[in-house]
Amino acid sequence: MSVLSEDHGLKIRPISKFIGAEVTGVDLTQPVDDATRRALRKAVVDNVALVIRNQKFTPAQFATAAEIFGELMPDQIKTNLIRDLPMVSILSNFEKDSNGNQAKTPKNAIWHTDHTNKERPPNYTFLYAVEIPEHGGGTSVVNMNAAYEALPSDKRAALDTMKTANVRVSSALLATANPDTLAEQKRLTATPMMHPLIRTHPESGKKAIWFHLSKTESVTGMNAHETQDFLNELLQETIKPEFEYTHNWTLGDMLIVDNRSAMHKAGVDYDMSQHRMLYRTMVMGDRPY
Ligand SMILES: [Fe+2]
Repeated sequence: MSVLSEDHGLKIRPISKFIGAEVTGVDLTQPVDDATRRALRKAVVDNVALVIRNQKFTPAQFATAAEIFGELMPDQIKTNLIRDLPMVSILSNFEKDSNGNQAKTPKNAIWHTDHTNKERPPNYTFLYAVEIPEHGGGTSVVNMNAAYEALPSDKRAALDTMKTANVRVSSALLATANPDTLAEQKRLTATPMMHPLIRTHPESGKKAIWFHLSKTESVTGMNAHETQDFLNELLQETIKPEFEYTHNWTLGDMLIVDNRSAMHKAGVDYDMSQHRMLYRTMVMGDRPY
């Protein structure tokens, strides 16, 4: 079996000043050597998001490719898993809840970072396009380290002390939540998972604003509704176009997001009668600090 290395044409090209790099010249269905592995792992940390072009994956090959970046983490949503492959789930705008209803707006369409109600949320999220609409339906990623650093120092200092209490879905959003999510919330009797609002990247040492809007029950000293208002305002204030990258999918692309310095969301600017389907997997992280 061939082993790929930088000598075999791996190219990593930054997309913009603040976020994103495009990777070509690598086939992740084949084993990669240590130099390639190191280059890819460094590139995703340095660039926050990585687009790896021209891949042809089965779901199992997609999962194996993600393992270059660490140990896979199971998805807490068990209804979307690929049969016999518990580490890969399907994100589809045609997904129906157990009442048979299709969401008008997919629930991943707001800024978030994945699985913040877990003690060790994923370091990385991997997406792979299986079906894409004719126009739109991109995935947006934002550099929340840049967003944090652009704030005045007194604002940064205030945010530094704040903690988030994380649940499956905030009580402020129960009225609009999917019935399956609600049932899951009732089953989960555990106390909220506490995390810092500003987390430090364990590899770069840089700080980033970090939360999942619909999973944050409260921010220090605020009730659930105040928390939603506060976080929405924080997004408005801190996310600038130059910190964002919207990935407009081409079949064969794998997008990797470094969740420790990014937030992401799915675009809803497409004809919802067309199918948008991605595979998703995640790599286990450490407890945020
Ligand atoms: Fe997500």
